Amino acid sequence: MASNWTPESWKSREARHLPAYLDAEELGRVEHKLANFPPLVFAGEARALKADLANVAAGKGFLLQGGDCAESFAEFHPNNIRDTFRVLLQMAVVLTFASKQPVVKVGRMAGQFAKPRSAPTETQGGVELPSYLGDIINGIDFDADSRRNQPDRMLEAYSQSAATLNLLRAFSSGGYANLRQVHKWTLDHIGRSPWAQKFSETADRIGEALDFMEACGIDPQTVPQLKGTSFYTSHEALLLQYEQALTRQDSLTGDWYDCSAHMLWIGDRTRFDDSAHVEFLRGVGNPIGMKCGPSLEPDALLRMLDTLNPAREPGRMTLISRFGDDKVEAGLPALVRAVKREGHPVVWSCDPMHGNVIKANNGYKTRPFDRILGEVRGFFAVHRAEGTHAGGIHIEMTGQDVTECVGGAVAISHEALADRYHTHCDPRLNAAQSIELAFLLAEMLNLEAVERAQRAA
Ligand code: PEP
Ligand code: CO
Repeated sequence: MASNWTPESWKSREARHLPAYLDAEELGRVEHKLANFPPLVFAGEARALKADLANVAAGKGFLLQGGDCAESFAEFHPNNIRDTFRVLLQMAVVLTFASKQPVVKVGRMAGQFAKPRSAPTETQGGVELPSYLGDIINGIDFDADSRRNQPDRMLEAYSQSAATLNLLRAFSSGGYANLRQVHKWTLDHIGRSPWAQKFSETADRIGEALDFMEACGIDPQTVPQLKGTSFYTSHEALLLQYEQALTRQDSLTGDWYDCSAHMLWIGDRTRFDDSAHVEFLRGVGNPIGMKCGPSLEPDALLRMLDTLNPAREPGRMTLISRFGDDKVEAGLPALVRAVKREGHPVVWSCDPMHGNVIKANNGYKTRPFDRILGEVRGFFAVHRAEGTHAGGIHIEMTGQDVTECVGGAVAISHEALADRYHTHCDPRLNAAQSIELAFLLAEMLNLEAVERAQRAA
């Protein structure tokens, strides 16, 4: 167990991006209530994810992490949950098929509500109000009442997370994720994309493989992995009042776990020496992610790793690089080399979203699909050159047919952004763009698989 740590030791450290609550009594009431609510996940599940990620760190698997930039109360609907889950399953099938390795599936779902913002206030038409900080803190509508930080929003976020997780558990083990359904996962609106045809071909080949295996006596009845899948949840551990209230001591091991999700990550703006967020996550046993942007120096990264994973437990740390397509090849190698030199076992994952935001000519915040692909290619090139495993992808996506990122095979133009721009924060890949990305990743993973086989021969 971490020394000199308690669930509230973060309070004596520097906390950036935490909201100020005016009514301390109300905050206390909400925290107390949350602390008595059931945990959303069980510590044993977090350990299972850690074991899966340890495999990835050893080069034997790939991490697929994706979902909304910010979940919202307004977009809470079973169809949205189903469609995001379905696209993640489709992506996982494509990646597994190409890499011949297990794909660890982790949603940015069931708790991804709080957002760090670049400016504390927003001005519209001469009126200045506090920025929107995510539905768990305040409201997106531009009026003073909505922008007030309200503690009881944490209770609604908890309830939405519980219901979302319940549905995800049902989908992943109740038959929806059965590989025999692979054809049925196709979404109508990705039909226009040339990649829909390609997915259908992959599904045919999987069907044939399943027929063959069934003839040999291997079917969903005898091998439960064919009938369901493991699916984990994650979010940025930003709102520490909420995270602390859901932190519990595991009755089996005596260790502390943040039971708001299986995996938690530290954002690029809250990872610094003496950060409250680093202090909090240091003491919980969950797998931890950390965003690594251009401002991170190799020495600072090593200090973070020593703090967060002093025992060098494989599967504990996932480093999520997010440089931007024009910076990744210059910036990432120094970090990869330092981590390799010190022998820290980590999963290297690529977030090709947060370094590639531009403002479209009509004012929309967008991400060009080409730049997203460019960063992924750069990430693979760096790992190939360094002899390390390109272990994962971290994306903001949705199963809906939104128009938020420009480009892709069904080319979304700058003008089209206004059509279905629904995100509560950053622009997400839509279903077709996500599948397209999966096939491009598959090419790179396939190359790795071929090289692995050659080395083994
Ligand atoms: C995010 O993942 O939503 C985010 C804010 O990313 P970063 O911390 O990398 O900017
Ligand atoms: Co984001």
